[in-house]
Amino acid sequence: MSDIAPTPRKILITSALPYANGPIHLGHLVEYIQTDIWSRFQKMRGNTCTYVCADDAHGTPIMLRAQAEGITPETLIAKSSEEHQADFAGFNVKFDHYHSTNSIENKELVEHIYLRLKEKGYISRKTISQFYDPEKEMFLPDRFIKGTCPKCKVEDQYGDNCEVCGATYSPTDLIDPKSAVSGATPIEKDTDHLFFELSQFEEMLKTWTREGHLQEQIANKLDEWLESGLRGWDISRDAPYFGFEIPGETGKFFYVWLDAPIGYMSSFKAYCDKTGFDFDEYWKEDSTAELYHFIGKDIINFHALFWPAMLSGANYRTPTAVFAHGFLTVDGQKMSKSRGTFIMAKTYLDHLNPEYLRYYYAAKLTSRIDDIDLNLEDFAQRVNSDLVGKVVNIASRSAGFVMKKFDGKLNDKWTPESTALYQSFIDKSEEIAGLYESRDYGHAMREIMALADKANEYIAEAAPWVLAKTEGKEAELHECVSISLNLFRVLMSYLTPVLPVTAEKSNDFLNLPHGQWNDIKTPLMNHEISKFKALLTRLEMEPIQKMVDASASSLNTTSTVPDGKKGDKKSKPAKEVVEKPEFDALAEEISIDDFAKIDLRIAKIINAEAVPEAKKLLKLTLDIGFEQRQVFAGIKSAYEPEALIGKLTVMVANLAPRKMRFGMSEGMVLAAGPGGSDLYILSPDDGATPGMRVK
Ligand code: 2FM
Ligand code: ZN
Repeated sequence: MSDIAPTPRKILITSALPYANGPIHLGHLVEYIQTDIWSRFQKMRGNTCTYVCADDAHGTPIMLRAQAEGITPETLIAKSSEEHQADFAGFNVKFDHYHSTNSIENKELVEHIYLRLKEKGYISRKTISQFYDPEKEMFLPDRFIKGTCPKCKVEDQYGDNCEVCGATYSPTDLIDPKSAVSGATPIEKDTDHLFFELSQFEEMLKTWTREGHLQEQIANKLDEWLESGLRGWDISRDAPYFGFEIPGETGKFFYVWLDAPIGYMSSFKAYCDKTGFDFDEYWKEDSTAELYHFIGKDIINFHALFWPAMLSGANYRTPTAVFAHGFLTVDGQKMSKSRGTFIMAKTYLDHLNPEYLRYYYAAKLTSRIDDIDLNLEDFAQRVNSDLVGKVVNIASRSAGFVMKKFDGKLNDKWTPESTALYQSFIDKSEEIAGLYESRDYGHAMREIMALADKANEYIAEAAPWVLAKTEGKEAELHECVSISLNLFRVLMSYLTPVLPVTAEKSNDFLNLPHGQWNDIKTPLMNHEISKFKALLTRLEMEPIQKMVDASASSLNTTSTVPDGKKGDKKSKPAKEVVEKPEFDALAEEISIDDFAKIDLRIAKIINAEAVPEAKKLLKLTLDIGFEQRQVFAGIKSAYEPEALIGKLTVMVANLAPRKMRFGMSEGMVLAAGPGGSDLYILSPDDGATPGMRVK
């Protein structure tokens, strides 16, 4: 192989832009850590790699959240941006630039791209009929409408698809639709919308999706969409909307998903303005720079259909590749933002070292789109066994001898066996680089740990602790510990993209500058090191448990403003480390006659609202067929009120009414569980209707 350095590649990489209305959680971090590892790796290889990101600041959920908090959207997005950047910095995710889609650069680029698409005849106008909330005086996005699925008739489904039978439909097909914003019955209203004519890009996309820009699983999925024909993409939204107004229109705004990917460009544009980088060199139609987007598999249509079509239509280059990854589960359980089965970045950082998670994710990540599971016991075990037990151990076992016996200096001559051992570690360099390049981090970690095993075997065999006590073995001891530290250095160099802070500490210990990938080709001979300090400590279950407990208790304070995403039930984030539930003792035995006295009825929750003054209570309005009841239920910490509207449950209908501080409670709904977020209301099977007696 030639030693002539290849010309550095020019690479621009992005991670999906996080919405500015919620905190970063461990699910998000899979992607940011995956991208950051790749960015650091490319930089270590000597490539010119720029990693940009931004907050995704527009859209209805952000507008409504700001309203609910009584602040302007600008204040909300400024606060989010600060929090997001602090979380990313906490996990050592190092962007070259972090921007906002609500920026002047983005406004200019969005308008420019839109006008070019319009000029080229790719924009059309159609009148559509859309649901409108007469109370809030706004058109409702699909996810802000709930009702009964037109196909399977299950209640409480979102306006675009049914979570039970999987049917997709238009919100106007829903039975008994309700606005999730106000609870009002929406009305249908005509409105003009602008469409990006995707059908004109069908041939271009059929080719592009099969040219190696996408993972195979993704390309196969896209085939299904491409085969069924592409329709126009609705890119406008009516006022009130938080976003950019469409030039030449009145009261019409760009849909958030149009301006979000352009945010990649505008973040880079702001970076160019700051540094003198050449924007056009990266974005012009015939650019030879590489452009990669790291994303979750749920937003593939935006990145692999709409985005390349928009870019190509506006005469820009298309992405070199879109890299999709799977979702995160914790202890086998799906995470969901509004369901609350997630651990916030901040909560993690309050308890644990970010490098642990970076390593664990790296050990699990592949180039495919499979979901990855954070099993908390395995997490501790893996970190302790690999990082502490295998890697750091090599340095801690050798450093003392070098300091005490050899004035902190490594030796300067190796036996052929030692040289060969070192060379065998260097020989893995390109293979490991190839695995990083192809995002097979899990495989790379296994290769690195196999080398760590080899280094530990070498030490165990050479037994420096015996050599140290044996007269005349000084040179052998010196060589053994010098080789060991050189092997440790190679391992840490390979791990640098994953463990940047530990690598920095290791460089301090070894008296080395921040290294490049090929530095290890020159071993450390006659080299002075510094005093060894612990690089990483063992990961115990106790702080993990504390983190889980803190996440569970913080879920009870989640805002009740809908975020426009799926999921509604809050539950604890991790089942294995949460104590097993204690079962209540059985109540006193009763006769069948006693049981017959309890009148249980099917009730439909027709309204639910939080009682602001009460920590635990929701005020429910229940329809039991022949009348309506008001019931105060202690389930606030388990459910968002909006999520309950339309659900069927079971109530004790003949319980004597109780006067409570907030009004009369006329019965009781049945729920199971120990309490807090771990409470589940009982719901009947399909077919039951309000008022039916439960027997
Ligand atoms: O799904 C999301 O969280 C979006 N905010 C991602 C946007 S990525 C890009 F297109 F800007
Ligand atoms: Zn259905």
